Amino acid sequence: MASLLLLLLLSPLSTTAASSGAYPTIPGTMDTSFPASQDSKLIPIRREVYGDGRIFDITHRYTSDMPSMGSENGLGQFLRLPESMKNGSFANISEMKLITHTGTHVDAPGHYYDHYFDAGFDVDTLDLEVLNGPGLLIDVPRGTNITAEVMKSLHIPKGARRVLFRTENTDRRLMFKNQIDTSFVGFTTDGAKWLVDNTDIKLVGIDYLAVAAWSDLVPAHLVLLKSRVRLMQCKVIK
Ligand SMILES: *[C@@H]1O[C@H](CO)[C@@H](O)[C@H](O)[C@H]1NC(C)=O
Ligand SMILES: *[C@@H]1O[C@H](CO)[C@@H](O)[C@H](O)[C@H]1NC(C)=O
Ligand SMILES: *[C@@H]1O[C@H](CO)[C@@H](O)[C@H](O)[C@H]1NC(C)=O
Repeated sequence: MASLLLLLLLSPLSTTAASSGAYPTIPGTMDTSFPASQDSKLIPIRREVYGDGRIFDITHRYTSDMPSMGSENGLGQFLRLPESMKNGSFANISEMKLITHTGTHVDAPGHYYDHYFDAGFDVDTLDLEVLNGPGLLIDVPRGTNITAEVMKSLHIPKGARRVLFRTENTDRRLMFKNQIDTSFVGFTTDGAKWLVDNTDIKLVGIDYLAVAAWSDLVPAHLVLLKSRVRLMQCKVIK
């Protein structure tokens, strides 16, 4: 069981940067208190700041030709307009139908543990403190899955709780190919075990649809989801 989720990756806004305008101006974040007569100039504020940090929305865009588990030709049509003003309806009403394991998503503990599922460990039970906050983006060596040996070689600092792993999946642009490619890079079971035993990581992100390599799909998921607090965030990193 998984659900759509927007990951908020925060980088502290240093006071000097904020006051000197060192950050490029983000369109739509300027003061928009126009008088009502200038409605045409109203620009919505985009919430690119959260708490003390700047938000990087790395959610993958949903498109009909993005890959989808269980489909040979991508997600397909997932959006339609059952009520259209063009056809006399009083409003436009869209309908979206897609499995929750689509694109950027987070795995709930019940995704691979049926007794967690039955006990109600769905995405609502995930800790927002784990899901939101500073994250470490790390490049893994190419030409290998994420094994214990690879994990060891990365020297991820103690205390790092949220880590996104950028792999050759990104180089291969797998999230932009409609066919599922089971040769994607992910965690092997021993890589997942190493992470659980040797790091403080509670949130794992990866740049394809599953955190575990295809060959280790079930056992590596079981290792990561067992404690119910170690979540897996699957996403593409552009
Ligand atoms: C409006 O209705 C027509 C005829 O049923 C249909 O072909 C068309 O796609 C509809 N347009 C929209 C925007 O829903
Ligand atoms: C309503 O939907 C139609 C068909 O997609 C679109 O052309 C039109 O711009 C929409 N109207 C509004 C007010 O959004
Ligand atoms: C990663 O593992 C998959 C099997 O799950 C395999 O097809 C692929 O070749 C491996 N990738 C690398 C770079 O070793």
